Amino acid sequence: MDILGIETSCDETSAAVVRDGREVLSNVVYTQIPLHRPYGGVVPEIASRAHVEKIRQVAGEALGDRKIDAVAVTYGPGLAPALLVGVNAAKGIAKSLGVPLIGVNHIEAHLHSPFLFDPSDDKETLFPDPCEECPALGLVVSGGNTILVDMPKYGKYEVIGETLDDAAGEAFDKAAKLLGLGYPGGLVIDRITTAFLAENPGKELIPFPKGRPREGVSALSGLPAALCVSFSGLKTALLRYVQTHPELSLSGPDERDYGGRVVTPAAAHVIASYQEAIVGAVVDRVRTALAMRPRKAFILGGGVSLNSGIRKELTKLCAEKGVKLYMAKPKYTGDNGAMIAGLAMYRRRVEGEAAMRMDATPSLEIGDGETTAEEI
Ligand code: KG4
Repeated sequence: MDILGIETSCDETSAAVVRDGREVLSNVVYTQIPLHRPYGGVVPEIASRAHVEKIRQVAGEALGDRKIDAVAVTYGPGLAPALLVGVNAAKGIAKSLGVPLIGVNHIEAHLHSPFLFDPSDDKETLFPDPCEECPALGLVVSGGNTILVDMPKYGKYEVIGETLDDAAGEAFDKAAKLLGLGYPGGLVIDRITTAFLAENPGKELIPFPKGRPREGVSALSGLPAALCVSFSGLKTALLRYVQTHPELSLSGPDERDYGGRVVTPAAAHVIASYQEAIVGAVVDRVRTALAMRPRKAFILGGGVSLNSGIRKELTKLCAEKGVKLYMAKPKYTGDNGAMIAGLAMYRRRVEGEAAMRMDATPSLEIGDGETTAEEI
């Protein structure tokens, strides 16, 4: 079954055709990052306008002259004006082609991305059917979400931990803004950190807080503190560090290249310390989750899952625990239509007028209102 997937929940206009839930036949991603860069973050109105301008071209390119069996679309969570563009486009395409429309949850789709393969450069055998890999734990770390879930079977999600404030990607982006590294900041912080740590193995890092919330705070909403993160204290600690070290500067006589970016060793030390605090927080919560709920596999998705520290440490941890680790190929870590089209294969197909009544749902929660295909 070939499904066209459409994604417009934030700042990427994307469409893809995926066969049988995993084989990516096309995946077109138009990123709006340059449009939002001057503002240091995503501006919803600009995002929405850019989606309107690009959706036709992106969907047309992904579709080519292929025949499809259904259209899938992200209907939440995300920015309302951005989601609406994708949902309306998907309704139009489904209606004009006379095929079913399938609504997909964006966060759940990130957890499907490790199962996507590109037939031109991957061996299908390395990408198993996700249904065979459950029970599993999953972690979505992205610009908008940091959520730890238990998946007793594929398509069933129980949130067991989450961030109480900023998502991991926001923690990277806000630090990059504060330090003058530009937007978005995750990749540049990662590259500087990797180069700095390779050159200074064993160097003592600045002890930034590891984002562990206090037990019993109301923001936990009943979730165990040991499985949640809070990045606001880390952000404040970085701000305080910068304020109390006025001599700290990105440029100076000793500046040099760290992973493609020229900064001073002192700045690279702060940046590496900050990244390691985030990596430490994420990996510590995953270690606790695997101890509390031992599972067959661990599934990692979202833009921040590209982070080399997170990849390296989770690879080590899962090997130690004998848990199979599934991480998305780098090109499927950010927002993309392929993960939407892929997950749609495992989703209920609501047809006809009922599907056309589907609404963009900005605060859709993981596990909300979805049923697995096998249940219908
Ligand atoms: O999944 P995604 O596209 O986010 C949402 O739209 O929700 O991921 C974007 C986020 C940004 O915050 C970006 O800074 C971060 O992913 N990111 C990274 C890396 N590459 C992208 N964060 C840490 N390390 C990276 N290598």
